[in-house]
Amino acid sequence: MSFQELTRERTRDRLKRKFREFLGPWGVFIQGFIEHPVMVGSIIPSSQFTIRKMLAPVDWNECSLFVEYGPGVGTFCRPVLDRLRRDGTLIVIDTNPLYIDYLKRTIGDSRFIPVLGSAEEVEEIVRAHGFEHADYVLSGLPFSTLPEGVGPRIAAATSRVIRPGGAFLTYQFSKAARNLTARYFGRVDDGFEWLNFLPCRLAWGWRD
Ligand SMILES: C[S@@+](CC[C@H](N)C(=O)[O-])C[C@H]1O[C@@H](n2cnc3c(N)ncnc32)[C@H](O)[C@@H]1O
Repeated sequence: MSFQELTRERTRDRLKRKFREFLGPWGVFIQGFIEHPVMVGSIIPSSQFTIRKMLAPVDWNECSLFVEYGPGVGTFCRPVLDRLRRDGTLIVIDTNPLYIDYLKRTIGDSRFIPVLGSAEEVEEIVRAHGFEHADYVLSGLPFSTLPEGVGPRIAAATSRVIRPGGAFLTYQFSKAARNLTARYFGRVDDGFEWLNFLPCRLAWGWRD
């Protein structure tokens, strides 16, 4: 690489970093979307209305391990930590190192464990952190655009990892997450949130 090319590349990286810093978490989220549109699936993080409605049925007194798939820049992480018991744990799993690095840098809470990996590996990840089961699993994954076979593998592993009485929480613009949940969970409660870009379907799959 010539000196001029090297200088150009460094300038581009510096401008990218400055733009990201200017936009805060939005900048990091949008950069992740531009680099991996299929895996991220949405250009705007979930709204406060979606977060409140999605988390409302959780019994926080009975939750010692909460797992989140696809936290992105942590839209749900702080609200979950605000509700979680002091001796609880939040494990978040994302395939994008940009997001996991960002979460490690910005959330300093001893109950918070960000993991770089795929939700397909949830059972191994939960065991590696000393747990038998998760009480609740929340998913922000874009099930309709994930590579072939990944969605069903994640839903199956999730139904095995959640304890009886626990639940799988999903929110998505399409029906894909809800339909997969219905395949693996005995009972599904449905909801809808208009105040989100785009409006989304909420589903709570209960493990009998
Ligand atoms: C729509 S974003 C969700 C962002 C955030 N949870 C929110 O509500 O604003 C989807 C996220 O899923 C992650 N993702 C995609 N496939 C994944 C997989 N197999 N395992 C874990 N995370 C994955 C992407 O990197 C991205 O962070």
